[in-house]
Amino acid sequence: MRPKRNGAITALLACLSSATVVVMFTTGESKAVGSATGPQQAVDESQYIGSEACQTCHDASFQSWKNTAMGKAFLDHPKTQLERKGCEACHGPGRAHLESGGDVTAIKRFGEKAPLSVPEQNELCLQCHEKGARLFWDGSTHESRGVACVTCHQVMQPNIPSLRFAEPLTGNRQFVKQTKMEVCFQCHPLRRAQVQRSAHMPFREGKVTCTDCHNPHGTPNPKLLIESTVNEGCYKCHAERRGPFLWEHPPVLENCMNCHEAHGSSRPQLLKAAMPRLCQQCHIEARHPTTPQLATTRFAFNRGCTNCHSQVHGSNHPSGVRLHR
Ligand code: HEC
Ligand code: HEC
Ligand code: HEC
Ligand code: HEC
Ligand code: HEC
Ligand code: HEC
Ligand code: HEC
Ligand code: HEC
Ligand code: HEC
Ligand code: HEC
Repeated sequence: MRPKRNGAITALLACLSSATVVVMFTTGESKAVGSATGPQQAVDESQYIGSEACQTCHDASFQSWKNTAMGKAFLDHPKTQLERKGCEACHGPGRAHLESGGDVTAIKRFGEKAPLSVPEQNELCLQCHEKGARLFWDGSTHESRGVACVTCHQVMQPNIPSLRFAEPLTGNRQFVKQTKMEVCFQCHPLRRAQVQRSAHMPFREGKVTCTDCHNPHGTPNPKLLIESTVNEGCYKCHAERRGPFLWEHPPVLENCMNCHEAHGSSRPQLLKAAMPRLCQQCHIEARHPTTPQLATTRFAFNRGCTNCHSQVHGSNHPSGVRLHR
């Protein structure tokens, strides 16, 4: 739907000029806006026209946005001066846009075709979102590779969650988790493939999702991992693997990924390599011959070292030194 043009302008301008005076009286805190937007030029309140003014030409956008989490927050219970700006909190002051009858170069726009650079677009969101999960956004892999907030998020439609690919107002838990993966798969097709493999974390079943282990907004850890080590992340759901064990298996303590692939694998139990090769990457065959001519050897039976060494993750049995029991 195209916004209707000039008809509304004159009437709007007339009532706005008086509205502006009121605004200037009631918003003595206009400095707070300046500080929230960082070291920018002072905010000229007279350039703001208010969400209702936008609505006169963009009713469809207004109706849709007002039901989003941010629409409700900004319109119903704004907590900061910037939230009170409504549409203009993101799109910037709209007076020039209004007076020109909708000149698109006079309003801040988002997306790939917008003239604003990705960091400039992100800065508009970070005015309010630089804390919390986004504390490590600056310098994170996604930030430094030029990924925009609005590549993953859409904010004009009332979707749950506010991610691209979400359908309106679907609150189903499994669906929400799968939506998150779809967002990631756009740029990480290998992960999509892995998640389809025969052994996989229960992604498709909706029990696990990318953001259980990664924070796409940045973390102080490698690979955008939420926890400071790989193992800490795994222990969150596999607490029984944490130990300490009487007889530890050093590669387990060091990193679960020595043997597993976290996203999906064509080997059973997410193993990185086939048995017994997995074990033989580190253990020489000298005492446990597994060469083809000796394939009947009990040591390689069913290719399984774990037939005997069943406690590969560590053993608490007094005589479990060989991880047998
Ligand atoms: C006088 C009518 C009018 C008012 C008031 C108005 N706009 Fe617009 N706006 C337009 C027109 C016309 C266009 C061009 C639409 C097009 O080309 O599809 C436009 C385009 C836009 C665009 C770009 C759309 C795109 O497809 O990229 C944005 C964003 C926008 N307006 C936001 C706002 C905001 C925010 C406000 C309030 C601060 C506002 N507008 C107030 C008429 C208006
Ligand atoms: C939280 C930031 C934010 C707020 C608040 C906001 N917008 Fe937007 N707007 C965006 C982004 C981002 C886009 C780009 C489209 C997208 O990402 O889906 C957009 C797109 C638009 C467009 C282009 C058409 C479209 O829907 O893609 C119009 C018109 C528009 N906004 C008008 C408004 C109006 C009117 C308001 C207030 C009622 C408003 N916006 C409030 C961020 C915001
Ligand atoms: C003026 C401050 C402000 C600006 C600017 C702003 N936000 Fe928000 N945002 C909020 C507030 C407040 C909430 C919390 C709403 C609630 O849940 O009550 C929120 C919530 C969100 C949420 C979670 C809502 C959900 O439904 O999951 C996302 C995602 C989000 N914002 C993204 C963005 C993006 C992307 C931009 C830039 C296009 C942006 N925000 C700009 C204040 C802001
Ligand atoms: C690579 C995709 C991606 C990018 C880029 C991204 N987000 Fe998110 N964002 C997500 C996902 C996925 C979630 C859901 C998080 C969860 O499940 O814990 C989320 C959640 C959020 C939330 C709501 C929950 C919270 O953590 O507070 C806000 C607000 C938010 N993002 C804002 C932003 C802002 C602002 C930017 C840009 C600086 C941004 N996001 C960039 C994917 C992204
Ligand atoms: C718009 C594209 C895009 C989207 C969407 C995206 N990523 Fe990325 N991601 C990248 C790029 C580019 C890199 C840099 C490494 C590369 O080239 O693969 C990266 C790297 C990563 C890394 C490795 C980080 C590192 O420091 O090595 C992780 C983990 C990651 N992304 C997780 C996610 C998750 C989780 C999501 C979904 C919430 C997601 N990504 C969505 C583009 C994207
Ligand atoms: C169970 C935890 C977990 C989940 C869930 C998870 N990852 Fe990872 N991911 C990891 C770990 C651990 C690494 C580091 C791999 C390594 O060091 O070998 C990693 C690495 C990555 C990398 C960087 C790979 C590289 O070699 O640079 C990307 C991209 C990535 N994950 C994307 C995703 C996506 C997309 C999802 C959702 C489908 C996802 N991850 C779900 C644990 C997880
Ligand atoms: C968010 C919770 C969660 C996290 C974090 C998590 N897992 Fe899992 N994992 C599961 C669930 C659920 C299953 C399915 C089996 C079950 O229901 O017990 C599973 C299954 C597995 C399986 C067996 C797969 C199969 O095909 O039988 C392995 C191996 C595994 N996880 C390793 C890891 C590793 C390694 C990490 C850390 C990188 C990790 N998990 C982190 C929840 C998680
Ligand atoms: C030395 C290689 C190795 C390391 C390191 C390792 N695992 Fe395993 N893991 C295995 C093998 C082999 C199996 C299959 C067990 C079998 O065949 O009896 C397995 C199976 C699993 C399973 C599924 C079966 C079950 O017993 O529940 C989970 C979950 C699991 N590992 C989690 C982890 C976690 C978490 C870590 C890190 C703390 C880890 N693993 C580190 C070799 C390893
Ligand atoms: C990343 C290297 C690595 C991998 C892979 C690995 N191990 Fe180990 N394993 C070690 C190290 C290091 C020790 C400790 C050796 C020592 O203390 O002398 C060890 C110890 C053991 C022990 C006890 C040996 C002793 O002397 O007490 C057994 C049994 C064992 N591993 C079996 C396995 C099995 C079965 C697998 C395959 C599921 C496997 N290992 C995979 C590195 C590895
Ligand atoms: C039929 C049962 C069985 C199978 C299968 C088996 N082992 Fe063993 N393994 C043993 C026994 C028994 C010992 C203790 C030998 C000793 O103490 O002299 C042992 C000892 C070890 C040790 C301790 C160091 C050593 O050489 O004494 C390692 C490491 C080991 N096995 C690795 C493996 C690997 C890797 C595989 C798979 C290729 C494997 N085992 C398959 C029974 C088995």
